[in-house]
Amino acid sequence: CGIVGYIGKRDSQDILIEGLKKLEYRGYDSAGIAVFTTNGLEIKKSKGRLAVLEDKLRDEPLQGSVGIGHTRWATHGKPSDVNSHPHTDNSAKFSVVHNGIVENYLDLKEELTIKGHRFVSETDTEVISHLVADEYDGNIVEAVQRAVKRMRGAFALGVLTEFEPERLVAVRFASPLVIGVGEGENFIGSDIPAILEHTRNVYILNDGEMAVLTRDGVELMTTEGEFISKEIYHVDWDLVTAEKAGFDHFMLKEIHEQPKAYRDTMLGRIADDGKSVNLTELSMTAEYVKSIRKVHIVACGTAYHAGMVGKTVIESLARIPVETDVASEYRYRSPIITPDTLVIVVSQSGETADTLAALREAKRNGARVLAITNVVGSSVAREADDVLVTWAGPEIAVASTKAYTSQLIAFYLFGLHLAGILGTKDEATVAGIITALGELPEQVEIILENAPVLKQVAESISHHKNLFFIGRGVDYAVAQEGSLKLKEISYIHSEAYAAGELKHGTLALIEEGIPVIALITQEELYEKTLSNIKEVKARGAHVLGIINAGNEVEVAKSVDELFAIPKTLPLLSPALSVIPLQLISYYASLALEHDVDKPRNLAKSVTVE
Ligand code: G6P
Repeated sequence: CGIVGYIGKRDSQDILIEGLKKLEYRGYDSAGIAVFTTNGLEIKKSKGRLAVLEDKLRDEPLQGSVGIGHTRWATHGKPSDVNSHPHTDNSAKFSVVHNGIVENYLDLKEELTIKGHRFVSETDTEVISHLVADEYDGNIVEAVQRAVKRMRGAFALGVLTEFEPERLVAVRFASPLVIGVGEGENFIGSDIPAILEHTRNVYILNDGEMAVLTRDGVELMTTEGEFISKEIYHVDWDLVTAEKAGFDHFMLKEIHEQPKAYRDTMLGRIADDGKSVNLTELSMTAEYVKSIRKVHIVACGTAYHAGMVGKTVIESLARIPVETDVASEYRYRSPIITPDTLVIVVSQSGETADTLAALREAKRNGARVLAITNVVGSSVAREADDVLVTWAGPEIAVASTKAYTSQLIAFYLFGLHLAGILGTKDEATVAGIITALGELPEQVEIILENAPVLKQVAESISHHKNLFFIGRGVDYAVAQEGSLKLKEISYIHSEAYAAGELKHGTLALIEEGIPVIALITQEELYEKTLSNIKEVKARGAHVLGIINAGNEVEVAKSVDELFAIPKTLPLLSPALSVIPLQLISYYASLALEHDVDKPRNLAKSVTVE
């Protein structure tokens, strides 16, 4: 979900809508705004895309210079007009926008119902507006503080009351929120792009902090009511970086930004002589590195798939045992976390609730946490002991591309950093890997030039209901990411399989004409993968091989079609082999006329568990 808010002298409606557009990628099954008009606090909201709300407002605009807005991604209660935000209480004098979850909302709802409150929606947010109304006795700030004290969960709030039209109250409790400081006007937003058009000066709230905005100022305090001061953070990047730059979709633009993302992520982290990696931003000492006995990599979705490659990278470069977990499982399986465990959390947004919870669990158990994230100042970045930023730049498309590959680069750099300290790889090997890393951006460019071929492949795939991705070693990890990408945006069902595991069951699903995308980049596993390909071909599969340049003639005999990627070291091949898979997904989604950047049911940033 996403929140915006405005208090100033201008008409708020357009400012709110524009802000919501910048946040739409966070979730988009409904949207709404509340504005103080001459009739009091008025709300307009509707299910569906923001455009639906815009249509409504075109006919009946809300005029006023104070307002809050919201885009919703359903958690409690299905997407519908009544479940959309902003919510209000029975008096309709209070209005709340909310991001996150109130875990004890059913208990609160029951209690408020006994007191006479009547509820119209299924949401936890509506309960907040009633709770604030119930606590109100003339001071909205105190009412919100009392209400928050009774709420459990993770949330960010924007609150307005008709009784005090000169104040906008904002609270952050484990869900991101920033305050934009303008002249004669102030803003709230779930993230910086929402308000960047209006101001570059922001306060980033921490958990348990709140802000009271008037036209002329911002007061910061804890939810306990203690006043605090904070430094203004000056945003020095511009919105254009977050726009499509001439591409049809953000996803395609982001795929094409990968060479730059690789270069930026490596920039300043490799010694001038090209022989070692210098991660000066890490505060972990060499003694500490020597004391690490095991590594846990924890993440969700695509970031988890980067972690699967990360496991191989760290194990092979630093010879430290690594386990990988999806964050939603990690916490609840009582993982064995000891002070000599390094926990690496990977998150593009740095706000994923499951990942953040895993980070906290790791810290509670005394482990050191390294975050690999794309968002400076995100929750994950702020709570981790060390941060390795992936300099991919803002990623807008829900399906992650450049963030994933930058995470791979971060793992290569970190693996080399460990190897440098531990002496697990000789100097020549390290220098060889660094040279190969430096070649990757140009190699990606070569793949992107060949992209049109993949359009045809994707179009033929788009006629199928099922397909398979197979591979061994890191090829298997990439197969998983390729399969996820395709599912996310084309809605075609696919399965990723370790090539050698197919015959233990899944081979039964192979029938005449079924597409199989086989990754064959690992030279030492080459023969084995080829024999797995023969198994599926014998059962009628149509095989596309993603292979290393130079192997065309040999592989051509075993597959129906092939796509060659420039040759690199086996460990680095995921940073190349995933690119054709991203493009295939993109073109398949396009062929099926789906919403590439905003696939159904998915959100870019999932800040609920
Ligand atoms: C959501 C997105 C995925 C993403 C995952 C983890 O589910 O739809 O694309 O991989 O969250 O996000 P993070 O920001 O933590 O990398």
